[in-house]
Amino acid sequence: MNIGFEYIKYRWNAKGRHGIHSPFVFDLMDKCLKIQFSKEDNEELNDLFTALKTDSRSIEIEDFGAGSKKLSNLRPIPKIFKTSSSKGKYGKLLYQLARFHQFKNVLEFGTSLGVGTCYLQLGSPEAKITTVEACKNTREIALESFKMLELKNIESIRSTFDEFLAQKRETKYDLIYIDGHHDGDALLRYLNELKENKHDETIFILDDIRWSKSMFKAWNSVIASEEYHVTLDFFRFGIAIPRKHQVKEHFTLKL
Ligand SMILES: C[S@@+](CC[C@H](N)C(=O)[O-])C[C@H]1O[C@@H](n2cnc3c(N)ncnc32)[C@H](O)[C@@H]1O
Repeated sequence: MNIGFEYIKYRWNAKGRHGIHSPFVFDLMDKCLKIQFSKEDNEELNDLFTALKTDSRSIEIEDFGAGSKKLSNLRPIPKIFKTSSSKGKYGKLLYQLARFHQFKNVLEFGTSLGVGTCYLQLGSPEAKITTVEACKNTREIALESFKMLELKNIESIRSTFDEFLAQKRETKYDLIYIDGHHDGDALLRYLNELKENKHDETIFILDDIRWSKSMFKAWNSVIASEEYHVTLDFFRFGIAIPRKHQVKEHFTLKL
């Protein structure tokens, strides 16, 4: 994928809140995306980031996904933080969605160092967050992150995504964040297997939709699918929501 060219195309098509006729999407742009971090949450996140950026340890990574484009197997924690953790405007978007919707049940595929999980839990403190990570050493650092921020409502599961799906849990999640194993066929398989775990307002966040041709192809089939009537393109994040009562519509939105 020529990511530079893709970004120009995205920016050309991306809209702000003006010209959006769907009240649901207008509210998202007008209210949710205006939420700012509370002072306490901002401080907590900054402390966590400083700890991860200055951590002198390296850990052995077991790669269960479609592979990382940038890293070798013994990885310094600051480097994992730099390349794999949600931060900046996408971390903020996780926080904004969590604050706006006050989720009760959240599922995250791909914990890494736990940064995305922390954004979500700070935004929705009442949510029970189940987060799945196959790499033992990476998960252990995430547990340290949760402890540092004193987050107690997180169920951290060490397993592959396929093993987790084989458990056939019955929970209906309000948010499902898929951020690992960036392969288009695998993504579509996970979405299919998670069918029973969604309700009409479940928000699916699909990370790295432009990571490879196969991910982008999968994202385009999500846009075309009748399973999701609202699809939102935020360049790195693709968001899909069933909302079957709404006329099917796709939006390319500025972040
Ligand atoms: C991009 S990182 C997740 C970042 C995190 N969600 C955040 O927001 O900070 C992806 C993680 O998914 C894990 N992973 C990839 N494929 C997996 C699989 N098939 N099963 C379980 N974990 C997997 C990797 O070990 C890696 O830690």
